Amino acid sequence: MKKISIIGAGRVGESTAQILAYRDNAHEVVLTDIREGVAKGTALDLQESAPLFGFDTRVSGDESNEAIAGSSIVVITAGLPRKPGMSRSDVLEANLAVIRPIADDVMEYAPDAMVILVTNPVDVMSYAFWKATGWDRSRVFGLSGVLDAARMASFIAMETGYSNLDVSAMVLGGHGDSMVPMISYTTISGIPVSNFLDAATIDRIVTRTRNGGAEILALKKTSSANDSPAAAVATMIDAICNDRKRILPCVAMLDGEYGEQDIALGVPVVLGAGGVEKVIELPLSDEEAQLFKQSSEQVTKDIALIS
Ligand code: 2OP
Repeated sequence: MKKISIIGAGRVGESTAQILAYRDNAHEVVLTDIREGVAKGTALDLQESAPLFGFDTRVSGDESNEAIAGSSIVVITAGLPRKPGMSRSDVLEANLAVIRPIADDVMEYAPDAMVILVTNPVDVMSYAFWKATGWDRSRVFGLSGVLDAARMASFIAMETGYSNLDVSAMVLGGHGDSMVPMISYTTISGIPVSNFLDAATIDRIVTRTRNGGAEILALKKTSSANDSPAAAVATMIDAICNDRKRILPCVAMLDGEYGEQDIALGVPVVLGAGGVEKVIELPLSDEEAQLFKQSSEQVTKDIALIS
């Protein structure tokens, strides 16, 4: 049983803690947040649901990151969410100022943890955290494609009327407007999705996937998505805690894969007890390779801003 900490008790942090608690496969879930009482109140509220949801995971909260001591996994959601009309890169500078001291805290209090970045722009925040810690790339990765692919799969299920359970989608590249929904690797029960949807519909779904976060933000106005990001983080944690060796698209540090070096990008990885155990290289069509390169160039521009 593991201790899992979540730095940032906002909507994504709270929803993630809720899923982890309900699944009851962590011994302890700790929420931290610099806002006085927020993490403690959120955690207590969750803890009080334990008898009804039937879990014995201990949920607690604190203002200090000292509370993450001994964590096996640390999820970082802290930072400014973007506002309607903003891109994820628009909160880069503000969130870099949040992430850097958190990296110091994690190095001090949870030096053996794996770290999952959620804070946006997540590719750059993952890279900044990895550089700050100097840790092996297997231990620092980010939430991107699991969420984006889930969105694309849900749009395909909505469009076709077929079960969400049978749709498998793949999204690579940066977790932003330049992301690369990979139709050629998207299937329904192993059958290429192009057998079910015409090109115009597929294009519409690809565009909607790229705008998935912004669409929810525009509707909710004061907050971005939380349920689907939390479900995606919980999926990654489940793969790690149960050593499932799942192949999932995550932000990973590339070391030559896809012709990329010293960059954090969304790629398929093997996720298990060792964290990012392997980066999977997919054969890409010329068009896919070009879109992936464009996405890499966008992330490289953002990374240049923090160096
Ligand atoms: C999203 O796309 C939070 O970036 C995340 O909703």
